[in-house]
Amino acid sequence: MLNFAKNLAKQAGQIPKKYWNKIKTYTYKGARDPLTIADVKTNTFIVKQIRKKYPEHSILAEESSRTINPGAPYQWIIDPIDGTEAYSHGLPYFGVSIALYKENKPVLGVIYDPLIDELFWAQTGQGAYLNGQKINVSKTSKLDKAVMFMGFPRQRKGKQGRKIMKNFRYYYARLENIFSNTCAVLALSYVAAGRLDIYCEYILNPWDFAAGVIIVEEAGGQVTTPAGNPWTIKDKRIVATNGKIHQKFIKQLIK
Ligand code: IPD
Ligand code: CA
Ligand code: CA
Repeated sequence: MLNFAKNLAKQAGQIPKKYWNKIKTYTYKGARDPLTIADVKTNTFIVKQIRKKYPEHSILAEESSRTINPGAPYQWIIDPIDGTEAYSHGLPYFGVSIALYKENKPVLGVIYDPLIDELFWAQTGQGAYLNGQKINVSKTSKLDKAVMFMGFPRQRKGKQGRKIMKNFRYYYARLENIFSNTCAVLALSYVAAGRLDIYCEYILNPWDFAAGVIIVEEAGGQVTTPAGNPWTIKDKRIVATNGKIHQKFIKQLIK
């Protein structure tokens, strides 16, 4: 199944690559939530290939209107293009994400950046890899040496938005740097590869992190809720770190 998922991510990635920087028009699924022709085509391609190979499996794909075979033990969770906002502006920061869960537990995750041909993958209990090389999280243990990618959700009003801004202000003064992130799946891949120390985001959907969480954990990192509880696929908020800095980081986080 891992080889199938790796090949599928690479093939599917050719679709957004072909359309990249050529998107002239797009629609909106909701406020600040763009949808391009490449999202739809990539989604259709991935779903079709999985249905052909594993007709009995369930599929939850972002751009499909319904879950296929709901309740089946194996479920594929797909984000055809993560980072559509940047993608629709011709920015080179997006990825294709494919995960497989069995009874809500991760089996494997694959994330592909087609522009620079980087394929991240992990299988539970077997380590994490980037283009065939084993990857590990960073060794940073001090907050003032840590670099974080932080997600700023579309829904900005209300309690959640205020918490995010308070967290940003607090850690902006204390970390080496904070970058505003627009692609959850690549942020998680970069934590796994030791390029980043922390990734934190408060409003996400399962397809944004289903594959990335496995890759971070298999690379030796830690993923929890902001309160420090074990992360599950039902959570919407995530803190992913190299593990060494995790407790220090979440201590002052507004949950
Ligand atoms: C989005 C990205 C972004 C996150 C948004 C997601 P999309 O996914 O992961 O980083 O901040 O909340 O919805 O819409 O580009 O697939
Ligand atoms: Ca996404
Ligand atoms: Ca998407």
